[in-house]
Amino acid sequence: MTTTTPRPCHVTIVEVGPRDGLQNDPGTYPTEAKVAFIEALAAAGAPVVETTSFVSPAAIPKLADAEAVMARVTRRPGVRYLALVPNERGYERARAAGVDAVALFASATEAFSQANLRATIEESFARFAPVARRAKADGVWLRGYVSVAIACPYSGPTDPARARDIVRRLDALGCDEVALADTIGAARPADITRLLATVLPAIPAHRLALHLHDTRGVALANVDAALDLGIEVFDSSAGGLGGCPYAPGAPGNLATEHLVAHLTKQGIDTGVDLAAVRDAVTALRGHRD
Ligand code: COA
Ligand code: ZN
Repeated sequence: MTTTTPRPCHVTIVEVGPRDGLQNDPGTYPTEAKVAFIEALAAAGAPVVETTSFVSPAAIPKLADAEAVMARVTRRPGVRYLALVPNERGYERARAAGVDAVALFASATEAFSQANLRATIEESFARFAPVARRAKADGVWLRGYVSVAIACPYSGPTDPARARDIVRRLDALGCDEVALADTIGAARPADITRLLATVLPAIPAHRLALHLHDTRGVALANVDAALDLGIEVFDSSAGGLGGCPYAPGAPGNLATEHLVAHLTKQGIDTGVDLAAVRDAVTALRGHRD
């Protein structure tokens, strides 16, 4: 039986525009424009900014300037600058660039794991284990993603129990937070409720985040379903930029502007200044090649 918990009065927004957004935006942006975007989002009040990925530049050419971005960003005290790493090589690059918060990304399906990481789920965890060990030893904050937690572009709907298994494995690696990703934006509110009801016995709600794409225009209804089950951390992307190049059909992420406006209407505080986010997107767009 799923019970509804009181909605939180504060939600933490993880701004993923500079990473999930820009990795799949049709435009190309100079490093300086990305840096200004990241700084503007932090200044707008985003407590966490997913800044870039230390992945293979052949896999994600748009984020090939990860080192340069990290080197140039002026960090605001109190803001977490998160970077994706797929393996130890990525971890070493990230650390050399001064990163102190990293995200691993596992998949709930074998087909997506192959497409995104060129590895089975088992092989991907063999790569993650030394990264997690080093992160813990280095005092680096660790997030774990469960990609395609709702549905996979290659194998259809995901069994929530598969997602729960991945959550357990990421938790066992020592992840501080686990993000359930609806990578292709297939979820309806009932799917979110079902997924969370399956996953929540495995991990406390305050350590779970939800990463939504707005394919069907129901992302905000999905947020509400998650709020009812005590979720307090949501990913969103300024301007609704983004999608995953290995997830055909995945359009933009849930837009930060929509999420902030929706939460504010319900009296839920985010600390994010809507107008400042809009300005950050306008400025970025001005640099599009
Ligand atoms: N940073 C930079 N380059 C890397 C790297 C890293 N973290 N990891 C591997 N590489 C390079 C290797 O040096 C090799 O380069 P070469 O072809 O010039 O010799 C190439 O990438 C392939 O390396 P290999 O170890 O064989 O990896 P792979 O081909 O099995 O690919 C990943 C595995 C994980 C590196 C790659 O699939 C990847 O980066 N995926 C990320 C996808 C992503 O970010 N998706 C969006 C997020 S949801
Ligand atoms: Zn995404």
